[in-house]
Amino acid sequence: VIQEGIVTTINADGGTNIAPMGPRVDDTMERLWLRPFRTSATYSNLKRTGEGVFHVTDDVLLIARAAIGTPDPLPVLSEATAVTGRILADACRWYAFRVEQIDDSRERSQIDCRVIDCGRIRDFFGFNRAKHAVIEAAILATRTGLLPANEMHREFARLSEIVEKTAGQQESTAFRLLQTYVWQIIDR
Ligand SMILES: Cc1cc2nc3c(=O)[nH]c(=O)nc-3n(C[C@H](O)[C@H](O)[C@H](O)COP(=O)(O)O)c2cc1C
Repeated sequence: VIQEGIVTTINADGGTNIAPMGPRVDDTMERLWLRPFRTSATYSNLKRTGEGVFHVTDDVLLIARAAIGTPDPLPVLSEATAVTGRILADACRWYAFRVEQIDDSRERSQIDCRVIDCGRIRDFFGFNRAKHAVIEAAILATRTGLLPANEMHREFARLSEIVEKTAGQQESTAFRLLQTYVWQIIDR
């Protein structure tokens, strides 16, 4: 099963990179199978440092911001101890991992990771249709070059109905942010 979350890695200049990523996981959460594109900063950082932290979070505004750029200001981070990595202080759970194997023979790499430390910070909110709609919109926003404009408009129209019915402020803000970002690109 794929679990959508956020991966933090350390950039060459020592800064923090934050990227939504959906690794394959199993019930044990002892391993993560990440599939970052070779063009992503996450891929370069993991290749160079071999370590990172995967987070499970219900903060879809952070996921949206990280999908389309670098959140400014960065969320509050703390240093991991078992790996050289940074933990999002407001995540629900985190998994510090070490890369064991990289297959980068294809454009989308496959990175097998072993979880070596983990922690729980707070409860997950639970199901909310608007949160899921924002996740879908965030994925669309990272694929503006791949999908035709009419399909983007159709998908956003469908998702916006769900957001209007079920969102709180965080979800509405996140959805608007993504919509504005996508419109700027496809209506150019
Ligand atoms: C929920 C979600 C899951 C994603 N999963 C992946 C993934 O598994 N692999 C990938 O290359 N990009 C994935 N993306 C797209 C990346 O987050 C996006 O390309 C991002 O800009 C990469 O950031 P980076 O260059 O800082 O690593 C996902 C996006 C979202 C919103």
